Amino acid sequence: MRIKNARFVVSNSRVAQCPNTKLPEFAFIGRSNVGKSSLINMLTDRKKLAKTSGKPGKTQLINHFLINEKWHLVDLPGYGYARVSKKNKKEFQQYITDYFLERKQLVNAFLLIDIRHEPQPIDLEFMEWMGTQQIPFSIIFTKADKLSERVIERTVTAYLNTLLEGAWVETPPHFVTSSTSRLGKDAVLAYIETLL
Ligand code: GTP
Ligand code: MG
Repeated sequence: MRIKNARFVVSNSRVAQCPNTKLPEFAFIGRSNVGKSSLINMLTDRKKLAKTSGKPGKTQLINHFLINEKWHLVDLPGYGYARVSKKNKKEFQQYITDYFLERKQLVNAFLLIDIRHEPQPIDLEFMEWMGTQQIPFSIIFTKADKLSERVIERTVTAYLNTLLEGAWVETPPHFVTSSTSRLGKDAVLAYIETLL
């Protein structure tokens, strides 16, 4: 898919205030600092569409972007960011879960995993929660530029095996990406296109 235009629509913390259209949407979720906003910029070929930062906790709202006037791409705040206060954290988590439970336009969630890290309980729990809620999702491994091809293959296999040893009978679709080398761009966009 070619992205001819991409523009920011709205940020908010309430699912009820998200754009009131029937356009299909795709959301990017994962731990803080995993590279959600960077990946969105890479996929859309826009350097500053989504705000990125070296410090975790940059994205704090539900951000809608309109792509090709046809579908929405959604940048979400990261979960598991320890430095926000407990109260903030609870509110955060609440509107993220509300988003997933209530947003009928959501076609697929992309759950981002930093390829350098061992499977983390918070990610595995989130996947299980999405499974229970029957929210379709796929996994995007990020920051692949940090590892060699051989190690990438081994890491991805090990990760998927962890899922199979746990609650999953089959593994979700998965992609290996890097926002710096642009690896995985065509594969992710082609996958989105099959769901539009
Ligand atoms: P929050 O909004 O805080 O939840 O973070 P985020 O998941 O949106 O992460 P963001 O895109 O802001 O990136 C976090 C940091 O990781 C930044 O310093 C990015 O430059 C870096 N980063 C993101 N993607 C990649 C990648 O593919 N490769 C490398 N090497 N660094 C990356
Ligand atoms: Mg972000």
